[in-house]
Amino acid sequence: MIKFVVNKERCISCGQCAADCLVSIIDMVDGHPSIARQNGPKCIRCQHCLAICPTAAISILGVDPAECLPVTGELPHADKIERLIKARRSVRRYKKEDLDPALIQRLLDVASYAPTGKNVRQVRFTVIDNRQMMDKFRTQAMDLLAQCVREGKLPPGMEFFADHVKLWETAKVDIIFRGAPHLVIASAPKNCPAPEPDCLIALAYFELFAQSLGVGTVWTGLAKWLINVVLPELKISLGIPQDHVMGYVMAFGKPLVGYARTVKHAPNEIVKVSF
Ligand SMILES: Cc1cc2nc3c(=O)[nH]c(=O)nc-3n(C[C@H](O)[C@H](O)[C@H](O)COP(=O)(O)O)c2cc1C
Repeated sequence: MIKFVVNKERCISCGQCAADCLVSIIDMVDGHPSIARQNGPKCIRCQHCLAICPTAAISILGVDPAECLPVTGELPHADKIERLIKARRSVRRYKKEDLDPALIQRLLDVASYAPTGKNVRQVRFTVIDNRQMMDKFRTQAMDLLAQCVREGKLPPGMEFFADHVKLWETAKVDIIFRGAPHLVIASAPKNCPAPEPDCLIALAYFELFAQSLGVGTVWTGLAKWLINVVLPELKISLGIPQDHVMGYVMAFGKPLVGYARTVKHAPNEIVKVSF
């Protein structure tokens, strides 16, 4: 049920909702937008009709436009966004403190606004939101990894994990999760149109919003390999569904470090196509 409701007193018959509908299921009938019953299932639930309406006349999927944030004139200036992007750093030293659960929830809620292929919105965040749990998981992972090393069972190409185990056992230095108090793993069902991109985009949103709030993050490819390739049993203990692709792993928490300035990167290779 898409529950497409038009407030005819507010509707100015501009037709913008119909023009912007990705699947062209909105018809103007007697001057007002309407979706024929048989076309309802074609809706991909993007809510563009609600978002574009200049007079807040449209509600869809039970969403009241009054609950949505206004956009015009309310966006941060591009200079600020540019600075946020350039000032983002991978954080590898964390305070031994939990983040406020409400803050973690806010980060996850905002990351849920990331786009997904065909708007399927099937990304799942598996989160370790307290330090004790994270320490337990870290210990479990390191113990299993140490056993794997002792038994010579590291898969080909993963031999470098032996050094990480040694560092953990001799100095309690955690190279894999960077000693972070929290972890978020984005996964999505294998049969989604774009499970991996969906997860990566969601985590990229999570990361930038986190950094805007002073929360440090680091993508951890090592943790992804560990969970996906070396110790797939961790996937089960984390409750990641078997039919999911694990998109990526990100560690996060209150940073112990602060960066005084941005870095300076050479631009990526840019190739302008001309025919
Ligand atoms: C896909 C991906 C995987 C990464 N994996 C790790 C990792 O396992 N451990 C780590 O410390 N940093 C990891 N990083 C962070 C990069 O090393 C980091 O982005 C790079 O050193 C540049 O530093 P910056 O992020 O502060 O600009 C990863 C980054 C990406 C995008």
